[in-house]
Amino acid sequence: MTGTAAEVFGGRTAVITGAGSGVGAGLARYAATLPMKIVIADVDEAAARRVAAEIAAAGGEAIAVRTDVTDAASVEAMAEAAEAAFGGIDLLVNNAGIEQFGYLWDVPDEGWRRIVDVNVTGVYHGIRVAVPRMRDRGGHIWNLSSVGAVVSIARQAPYLMSKQAVLGLTEALRVDIEHAGIPISVAVVLPGAVASHIFHDAGMPEDGDVAAAQAAREDMLALLPHALDPVVAAERVFAQAAAGEFYLLTQPDYVGQAMCARGAQLASRRPPEAPAHHDSRRFAE
Ligand SMILES: NC(=O)c1ccc[n+]([C@@H]2O[C@H](COP(=O)([O-])OP(=O)(O)OC[C@H]3O[C@@H](n4cnc5c(N)ncnc54)[C@H](O)[C@@H]3O)[C@@H](O)[C@H]2O)c1
Repeated sequence: MTGTAAEVFGGRTAVITGAGSGVGAGLARYAATLPMKIVIADVDEAAARRVAAEIAAAGGEAIAVRTDVTDAASVEAMAEAAEAAFGGIDLLVNNAGIEQFGYLWDVPDEGWRRIVDVNVTGVYHGIRVAVPRMRDRGGHIWNLSSVGAVVSIARQAPYLMSKQAVLGLTEALRVDIEHAGIPISVAVVLPGAVASHIFHDAGMPEDGDVAAAQAAREDMLALLPHALDPVVAAERVFAQAAAGEFYLLTQPDYVGQAMCARGAQLASRRPPEAPAHHDSRRFAE
């Protein structure tokens, strides 16, 4: 079914991981206006409670559930909590994600593993609990990739790799779901810069070229004054999903151009080139 966001999603239940902050909190706040019932799932329980309380104070329905997406049992408990509170899951957004700065050879083992565990395995855990539950009743699954899946930026290799992984995983999931004949709508979200804590909370190397990693973080923090408001980003994502789109873009002009450039680069077999600098204002278009 396609239509407006309120027509497609109103009255239904959304489970959003990492919804205690940034993009996920924006999706939750906007979803509550449709109105959807929301499970705010975050490893930071206090942050999840704050967002749930804010939605409830505005007249919406939300619960906070402490969830660690790296832990399969915790994600299973998240799904059970959603069923107990609201009777099921209609939309799962695998949004929880983290950043890591530094040249790849300076990234510590722990930083590498956390990126894979949260950004990639966390999405897999969400899919594992959602698909069996949605098999008969239908539903929607969205996974958070990034414009970073289609551009090359120095000193963010683990993060960019993880976002390419989520893009590829979601494309493959869509094909699997269609092949299996299951009534689930699968989509991938590619945000440009959206106001959040992700760069503040990023992993940093302790050895090697630490200054290069710090400069990379400063470059990304410099985007924040131009970053999109998370609720505006959410409104765009919900409208595109309700219209039946697969690639959901928070900044359709900027991210769409980056996708075209990526396609052209692959077609021409030119090697990737890091942009000399970001024109940060373009991230909010
Ligand atoms: N903000 C941007 O500009 C931007 C751009 C492209 C993609 N994204 C993607 O959007 C998603 C959300 O990022 P954000 O920018 O809002 O970051 P954020 O740091 O503001 O929010 C991320 C949330 O995820 C939670 N989280 C971290 N590890 C978790 C775990 N193991 N289990 C459950 N929750 C966990 C954090 O507690 C936090 O509340 C990420 O997947 C990110 O890659 C963000």
